[in-house]
Amino acid sequence: MRTKLAYALIGIAAWPVLPASAQEGAPPPPPPPLATVATSPHLVSADMRGGMELSGPWHYSIDPFRSGLAGFHGGLPDAGQRRWLDIDPRAEMAKDGRVLYEFDLGHSPFTTLPSSWLTEAPELRHYQGLMWYQRTFPAPAGRTGRFFLRFGAANYKTIVYLNGEAVGRHEGGFTPFAFEVTKLLKDGENRITVGVDSKVDETTVPPTVTDWENYGGVTRPVRLIATPDTYVDDAWVRMTRDGKLAADVHLDGPNAANRVIHLKIAELKLDRSATTDAQGNWHGVIAPPRGLVRWSPDRPKLYDVAIASGEDEWKDRIGFKTIEVRGTDILLNGKPIFLRGISLHEEEIGTDPTRAITPASARALLSEVKTGLHGNYVRLAHYPHTEVMTRMADELGLLVWSEVPVYWQVAWSNPETLATARNMLAENIVRDHNRASVAIWSVSNETPVTDARNTFLRTLVGDVRRLDDTRLVGAALLVERAKGDGPPVMEMVDPLADALDIVAINTYNGWYSQDRLATLPSSIWKVPTNKPLLFSEFGADAKAGFHDISDPQKFSEEFQAEYYRQTLAMMDRLPTLRGLSPWILKDFRSPRRQNPDFQQGWNRKGLISETGQRKQAFDVLAAYYAKREAAAK
Ligand code: GCU
Repeated sequence: MRTKLAYALIGIAAWPVLPASAQEGAPPPPPPPLATVATSPHLVSADMRGGMELSGPWHYSIDPFRSGLAGFHGGLPDAGQRRWLDIDPRAEMAKDGRVLYEFDLGHSPFTTLPSSWLTEAPELRHYQGLMWYQRTFPAPAGRTGRFFLRFGAANYKTIVYLNGEAVGRHEGGFTPFAFEVTKLLKDGENRITVGVDSKVDETTVPPTVTDWENYGGVTRPVRLIATPDTYVDDAWVRMTRDGKLAADVHLDGPNAANRVIHLKIAELKLDRSATTDAQGNWHGVIAPPRGLVRWSPDRPKLYDVAIASGEDEWKDRIGFKTIEVRGTDILLNGKPIFLRGISLHEEEIGTDPTRAITPASARALLSEVKTGLHGNYVRLAHYPHTEVMTRMADELGLLVWSEVPVYWQVAWSNPETLATARNMLAENIVRDHNRASVAIWSVSNETPVTDARNTFLRTLVGDVRRLDDTRLVGAALLVERAKGDGPPVMEMVDPLADALDIVAINTYNGWYSQDRLATLPSSIWKVPTNKPLLFSEFGADAKAGFHDISDPQKFSEEFQAEYYRQTLAMMDRLPTLRGLSPWILKDFRSPRRQNPDFQQGWNRKGLISETGQRKQAFDVLAAYYAKREAAAK
C-alpha cells in the first residue's frame, strides 16, 4: 500500500496564517496543519459515501488585502478583521457600542457553491485574491463515529475554520482535501468559514502565466462525511499487467490493525476475506474471477466493488483494464489501440461558465467526443478535472490523459514548488487510481528544457512509477524547428522523452507560423522511433459563424477546417503515430486572447463554440476518426 509514509517524501510549503486563538500581542502561533497526501485523510471514493451536502447558499465577502490573515504591520490580524470568529458581529456591536468589526459575513451577500466568484457579480469578473465564504449547518443528532469536511477542490490556497477554530489549509486548485472535525462539531448550529485565495505567482503550480482563466473559488462540492471510528481511508482495486486482480486497502482508526476485511464483487461472486497488518494495510493479488469482462471504450463495463470492514462498507464502481506500451504500440487489454481523442478544459458549455461541472455538463462535453467525434480518448488539460468528469469517462468509455498544471515557466529550482507539484500529482493519483478510464498520468505541459526542469520532472515521473505501476507516464513536449525555408523540419531533442512511455508533442505549424497550409503534409519529423507517438496538441482558432471562402484568413471556419485537413494528412504519414488529442473541444476563456473581432477573451481553437455550436473542422476530425474507427474493427 502506498502508505502515508510513502507520501511523506513529499514535503510541502508553509502558508503563514494564524488561527483564532491568537490574542493581541501574543507571539503568532503555528499555522493550522496543511492537508497533504502524507498528513491528511484520503477518503478515497468519498463521492460514493453518504454525507451532508454543504453545497448551496454561502455568504461571501472579498478581502483583497488579506486583512483577515494578517494585521496592517504584519503579525496578527486586527481584532475587527478576524472573519473566522464564531460570533454575530451585528449583534455584538449592537450590544456594546465600543465593539468594532469591519466585516460581517453572516450578513454579507449570498452566492451558490460550488462555483467561481468570477461569475457571481460583474464587479467580481476579474477579481483575483482572497475571498471569504461562510455558512452554518446543523450537526447530525446523536453523533457517533467520525466526521470529515471534504472539499472536491478550491482554487488556489484555502484555509478552513469551524466554530472559530482553525481546521486546516490546502494548496492547489484542482484536487480534493479533507479535514477531520469530529471534536469541533457541536450540537445545533455550526459555523464554517473558508478563505480561498486565487493568487498564483512564480512559485505556484501553475505559475502566474497560463492560457486559461484563473477561476477562483470553491469550484467543487463541499460535504460533511461521516464514517465509523475505523474506516476504509484508501482502497485501490485494479487489474495488474499480467491480468490478475490486485487490491491495496488502508484502514484508519483505533481498530485498523489486524482487522478482518472482505473484498466483494457480487456480480462476479467474489467475496475474499483478509486481515490487515499492524499498520491497518492489506495488499492482495487474486486470480481474475471467471466471467470478468475487461473495461474498454467499446465496452465500458463497471463493477460494484465493496470492501467491508466492521461497520464500514467502502464502495466504488470500477472497471478492470490493462494499458501498456510494447515497442511503438499502445496496448489496451493486450491489443493495439489508436487514441482518437481531443483535449478539453474543465469548463461547461455556456456563455458564462463558472467551472461547476455537474454530471449533465460532463455528459454533454464528453458525448461530443464519444458520439460526435467517434472518439475513444480525452486529454483533460491542464490540471486534474473534477471526479465527475473521470467517472463520466468511465461510464461513457473514454480513455483519459490526466495531468497536473506544471505548465510553462515553473520555478524549477524552488523546493517548495516541487513539493507542491509532487503533492498535487499524488493527490490526483490517489483520488483517481480506481478510475478505469485513466490511462496516462502527465507530469507537465510545454516546459522549456533546462537541467533544473529535467530534474524536477524526473522526480515527478519517479513518483508516478512508485504510486501507480498500471498506467503510462507522459508529458506534452515541444520540438525544435530547423531554420530554413520550405516545409517544416521538426526535431524532438527533449531529454525527458527517454523517461516517458510515450512521445507526446504539441505543434502549431500553420497557426503560429507563416507556413502555407498546403506545405504541412511535406513536413519532416525527427522523433524517437522506439515508442508510440502522440500529438497532444495542435489547433487553430475559428470564430463560429465567421466565413471566408477564398484563400481563407485566420479565425475563419474555413481556415480551421483546412488546417485540420492538412495537419491530419501530415500526421498520417508518421509510422509511429498512435494517438491525437487536438487543441481543443470547446472555445474556452483566456485573458491572453483579446482580439476584439474574434476572441473577446476567449481562446477560439474549439471545434465547438462556447455555446456548443459545431464548426466545420468538427466534421473534418469526426470523419477522420470514423475512418480510423472502421479500420480498427
Ligand atoms: C499551448 C498550450 C495551451 C494553449 C495553446 C494555444 O500549446 O499548451 O494551453 O491554450 O497552446 O496557444 O491555444
